[in-house]
Amino acid sequence: MPHAVATASAPYDLSGRTAIVTGSSTGNGRAIAVALAQCGADIIGVDLHPGQPKGFEEDAPHTHDLVQRDYGVKSAFVQGDVTLEETWEKVMRTALEMTGRVDILVNNAGILGKVGPVHEATLAQWQLVMNINVNAVFLGIRAVIPTMLAQESRSGGVRGTIITISSNAAYHGAPEKAPYCASKGALISMNRALAVDYGRQGIKCVIVSPGIIATALNAQELADPSRCQNYRSQTPWPRFGRVDEVGSAVLFLASDASDYCNGTDLAMDAGYIQA
Ligand SMILES: NC(=O)c1ccc[n+]([C@@H]2O[C@H](COP(=O)([O-])OP(=O)(O)OC[C@H]3O[C@@H](n4cnc5c(N)ncnc54)[C@H](O)[C@@H]3O)[C@@H](O)[C@H]2O)c1
Repeated sequence: MPHAVATASAPYDLSGRTAIVTGSSTGNGRAIAVALAQCGADIIGVDLHPGQPKGFEEDAPHTHDLVQRDYGVKSAFVQGDVTLEETWEKVMRTALEMTGRVDILVNNAGILGKVGPVHEATLAQWQLVMNINVNAVFLGIRAVIPTMLAQESRSGGVRGTIITISSNAAYHGAPEKAPYCASKGALISMNRALAVDYGRQGIKCVIVSPGIIATALNAQELADPSRCQNYRSQTPWPRFGRVDEVGSAVLFLASDASDYCNGTDLAMDAGYIQA
């Protein structure tokens, strides 16, 4: 007998769900917040700075104003450093006051850190990258899991979704970026472990690993013609990626359309190849 094909009527509808997005003020984080809000999610943005960096539409509305204005969702912004436990206490207080729930956490805030030969890096430079790119992700995950576990599961069995932004650099050994590559690799291993630990309880733990997306993070590198050319030759696609495409990948993983994707690492790098 053929299997019945059940299709949800609106698998991308996130109405009534609350999403926390770190690094929400610019780049990928801003696009992720917009993509989730477009589908109805209420947004709590977290960032060191409320606005965008110089040269990146710094006069445009802040993300939390934009999503409220354009999509009518609830939105709050917590200005803080994701490496601090007190920031996460504030984020959780804000979420529980705003909607009483946390359905989606997007661990997006990250830095490239010092670029150069690793034997010339200081311990402080190494630790800075690990602290923001890995330790802060641990703090965020630890903060949301008790609330997610206490929530009723939806029909697909999901109580909460944790999406962490890694990078194709975790796989390709990007030159002179050992701390960054190590930090992004750690997230992939952590995600697999979390998927095992929390999958049966309905917490979907997934990764998005983007390739080259033009943002403030890599603006300096992409302005260097030879580095930019290297990236182009390693990207078998007519262009680099866009932040809204990272938003779309996250939206898929945040939605019911991906409910059987626990542990998944979604590469969206146009088939990037290391020369
Ligand atoms: N741009 C790319 O090509 C690319 C590729 C792969 C992965 N990524 C990943 O995507 C994520 C976002 O990168 P982006 O390119 O949008 O960078 P970005 O520099 O444009 O934005 C990062 C945001 O994170 C915030 N942030 C940094 N440290 C923080 C801290 N300690 N506390 C709170 N907020 C903090 C910044 O203020 C900024 O708003 C990062 O994890 C990055 O590693 C980017």
